[in-house]
Amino acid sequence: WRIEKPKNEPFLEFRPGTKERELLKKKLEEVKSRTVEIPLIIGGKEVKTGETVEIRAPHDKDTVLAVAHLAGEEEIRDAIEKALDAWTKWSEMEWYHRTSVFLKAADLLAGPYRLEADAVIMLNHSKTPWEAEIDLAELVDFWRFGAYYARFIFEQQPEQAPGELNRVEWRPLEGFVFAVPPFNFFSIGGNLPTAPALVGNVSIWKPSRWVIYSNYIIMKILMEAGLPPGVVNFVPFNTKYSSIVLSHPDFAGLHFTGSYSTFVRLWKMIAQNLDKYRNFPRIVGETGGKDFIVVHPSADITEAVVATIRGAFEYQGQKCSAASRLFVPKSMWPKFWEVMKAELDKVKVGPVDDFTVFMGAIISEEQYRKIVSYIEYAKQHPEEYQIIYGGKYDDSKGYFIWPTVVLTNNPKGKLMTEEIFGPVLTVYVYDDDKYDEILWVVDKAAPYGLTGSVFAKDREAILKAEKALRYAAGNFYINDKPTGSIVARQPFGGARWSGTNDKAGWFTNLLRWLNPRSIKETL
Ligand code: SER
Repeated sequence: WRIEKPKNEPFLEFRPGTKERELLKKKLEEVKSRTVEIPLIIGGKEVKTGETVEIRAPHDKDTVLAVAHLAGEEEIRDAIEKALDAWTKWSEMEWYHRTSVFLKAADLLAGPYRLEADAVIMLNHSKTPWEAEIDLAELVDFWRFGAYYARFIFEQQPEQAPGELNRVEWRPLEGFVFAVPPFNFFSIGGNLPTAPALVGNVSIWKPSRWVIYSNYIIMKILMEAGLPPGVVNFVPFNTKYSSIVLSHPDFAGLHFTGSYSTFVRLWKMIAQNLDKYRNFPRIVGETGGKDFIVVHPSADITEAVVATIRGAFEYQGQKCSAASRLFVPKSMWPKFWEVMKAELDKVKVGPVDDFTVFMGAIISEEQYRKIVSYIEYAKQHPEEYQIIYGGKYDDSKGYFIWPTVVLTNNPKGKLMTEEIFGPVLTVYVYDDDKYDEILWVVDKAAPYGLTGSVFAKDREAILKAEKALRYAAGNFYINDKPTGSIVARQPFGGARWSGTNDKAGWFTNLLRWLNPRSIKETL
């Protein structure tokens, strides 16, 4: 039984005049014209609690896309029970029976459900068609490569010696995994509950409140692909109930992506409950970033500018990998800014279903206000910050913030060290002969370690940056933007305040959900 090494799913481009574009437009109209009711899925069954939240399009607050039911205490306990019921069969199933479910789900998502999912991702997350496609394709890749890596892991067996027979049984964790994904990626929404399931675990999935709609499509696809009831339970709920999950004796692991502060809060809760658990839980988390771009005097200006704009402003800067601090040498800055300003003038902000915009809206009022507070802070501190582009925002129809570039004289200040999670890029112009010092500042000033880029043609400069920034970025890019990692090609994740760095979509992540048993038989 072998699984062919998969190829990364190619992206649809929806070019003007193509059939795909017309079909997607139709889907968008369909999705906008209806309000979907979203139940919980517990033990394979729909559950409606009557306690609901509305899911609105971030670019148009008047459009209610869906109404989603929320789980209360009773439903959460029931979901855990159903997960544990499903565990025995699922955990003992041959790996190829399990992975076939996810290969099937990948084909459904890449095939018949593709345009529907693209349309919902666009409207629910406020993503452009391109951003929706790379997000959708990433989940297809997570599943196909996950199946491939599962086979690779289960094949690994120990050495033999005369008179004994040695085996390793690749057991999943004993209990359930709690999956808590963020709003920004559909792919992560789907990956967090299913990566553990791929290797035999069961999960309680609490989707992000803002994107329950897009995540529900994943749940439906999994069921259609034949996922047995209870293996993955879809239970959106209010965060105040997290303690029910985290104080359960069978809690066996947390698969988290989101903010540093939420991860710390959950980790502390787990620590407080440690003596209640049957096992030491596995904690896997990907958190924030203060991702950098360092331009060396030998860099190609146009290349660096295009990467900066894409890295900082695609998906409105709401990627943990988004560039938010830029370092440019003094000799280069006037030309760099001239080229960058001209490019920024072409950036269009607006409703994503218009097909010509580069940036949509911010996901929620809360996030919008947080980002705006940083822009206001910059305005109030002219001794340290100068807004040289944008700084404009408007929430009358949707949560729009225009691309904002802030110049600073302090590479260690607030906007240079705190994660903003929005379209705000802070720039520090350094003296050309201070390249080494600036690398030191990039490494030491911010507490994160997720992604970063260096732009240089000079090999010495590249080597220096790679060495000096060894722990500053778990995903380090040379002459490329710091966003847009591809499954299996750039395993994704960072250290320091950016997480446990178990690398999403790679076999290293799957290993965290396994608890191997060694069996020796004396012959
Ligand atoms: N993997 C994404 C990126 O590289 C972030 O989650 O942009």
